[in-house]
Amino acid sequence: MENIKRNLGIAASNLIENNSIVGLGTGTTTKYFIEALAKRCQKNLNIVAVSSSEESFKLAKKLNIDVKNENDVDHIDVYVDGADEVDFSKNMIKGKGAALLREKILASFSKKVIIIIDHTKYVKNLGKVLLPVEIVPFGCKLTKMKLEKLGYFGEFRKSKTDNGNYILDVKLTHLLDDPQIHHETIKNIPGVVETGLFIDLADDIIIGYPDSKIEIIS
Ligand code: A5P
Repeated sequence: MENIKRNLGIAASNLIENNSIVGLGTGTTTKYFIEALAKRCQKNLNIVAVSSSEESFKLAKKLNIDVKNENDVDHIDVYVDGADEVDFSKNMIKGKGAALLREKILASFSKKVIIIIDHTKYVKNLGKVLLPVEIVPFGCKLTKMKLEKLGYFGEFRKSKTDNGNYILDVKLTHLLDDPQIHHETIKNIPGVVETGLFIDLADDIIIGYPDSKIEIIS
């Protein structure tokens, strides 16, 4: 699996054009992208980056990538990130790494979103993995009860997000035919900041296979 992730990181980094502003995702696959990007920057690639998490920010800084505060850029040319699941319509579940809110802000602001996943994550319907939901601390148990009334049951993670909120990992009871409805229903609850359902945000999906094959779905 590490080889697949490494190949995906390299493949995505090779798509980054000179003088672009690049959004950095978060997670174990994106880590390889950041490392490959740093290597290109050491040679002759000139880019500016913004990050979806403290973790990716620190890694990029350590590797001498020019990372700016997200409020200091006026556009993002391309955002590269992993995902937990991607369906055949390019909708996604993201947030296992707890960075879903910042990821969604950067992805929705980017001209192009590239997602890098191994082949096991490309599915007909979303819903086998846990659905992370970011919830503000105030009244978080009440928000959880409200979600339960609507059929969404989950467990809180122990640690807070970079934004000081909690993540509730929801175990879905069935695969999702219409992920948008679930996103809207959950997001409509006061106390919910964001859901890990990313609807209509991905442009290109790069899928990695064990035999080193790379498939790009545009
Ligand atoms: C981070 O919050 C997530 O959205 C990740 O992008 C997603 O969980 C994929 O992570 P891995 O590449 O580590 O599987």
